[in-house]
Amino acid sequence: MPVPIIIDCDPGHDDALAIMLAAGDPAVDLLAITTVAGNQTLAKTTLNARRVCTLAGIADVPIAAGCDRPLVEPLKVADDVHGTSGLDGPQFPEPTVDVVPEHAVDLIHRILTSHPEPVTLVPTAPLTNIALLLTRYPDAAARIREIVLMGGSTERGNRTPAAEFNVQADPEAADIVFRSGVPVTMCGLNVTHQALATPEVVARFNDMGTDLGRTCAELLTFYASTYRELWGFQDPPLHDPVAVARVIDPKIVHCVDANVVVELHGRYTRGATVVDLHRYMDRPVNAQAAITLEADLFWDRMVAAVATLGGRKG
Ligand code: BDR
Ligand code: CA
Repeated sequence: MPVPIIIDCDPGHDDALAIMLAAGDPAVDLLAITTVAGNQTLAKTTLNARRVCTLAGIADVPIAAGCDRPLVEPLKVADDVHGTSGLDGPQFPEPTVDVVPEHAVDLIHRILTSHPEPVTLVPTAPLTNIALLLTRYPDAAARIREIVLMGGSTERGNRTPAAEFNVQADPEAADIVFRSGVPVTMCGLNVTHQALATPEVVARFNDMGTDLGRTCAELLTFYASTYRELWGFQDPPLHDPVAVARVIDPKIVHCVDANVVVELHGRYTRGATVVDLHRYMDRPVNAQAAITLEADLFWDRMVAAVATLGGRKG
């Protein structure tokens, strides 16, 4: 039986491919897509989710907009990585799928309490919506099978030397999630940096001969250029689909038990995830930390999902 999931995202180049992986892979049942401010403003991330769904032919999955700013921090978008639209690179057709008239947090809660099975949440963005859900609807926690998130790192950061973007953007929200008692799996930079979109990967999307495949190749080409410029990466890491892949098949992403706390006060380290992999500190296990990616399996699933969604040949 496919695992029921909700993606909470801020598209974002890698979020766009995470949506496609979740919609195209038969091992998961994508129940909803919710958006939050992060890589760009809420208006732009929501428009981008609609653009991606329109192009990929994802018409039957509700999209709802959520929080337009972090709980405490001011919003600082990642336009240096994702451009002014949040999805710079390709041209998108006018979106034909719309949002539902419901706040993301209310939609997630409604699905959690009405779905026959517990649902897995896959946040690939700042954790503002998820923290608000857990705070506003404490009954929701028991209905969440697990939270498999892209964020944090067992090592260094990207937004600051210490902190990864999704956690650094809203550290208080991440702190609420890691302390919630809900099973959490953290797919941090240490594992997503193993999902490198090489020229061979880009060629696999181009070779599909569909609008969707070509758009993926264009997204990855733009994303490669900013990663090269900002951090000197030869090939860019495709972070967000790694969290989806962990739900699709746990054998693609190997994890270990860990204690994860979020640094809220450090002058230079606010938003860092402090990950105790060896339990030196005698703090309880509150997360699974992803460590190793089976990159070939990952890319095979990613490419197959986009091919399944197909889109128009052209
Ligand atoms: C995360 O930050 C965003 O820019 C990406 O979409 C990803 O979710 C990586 O740090
Ligand atoms: Ca993201």
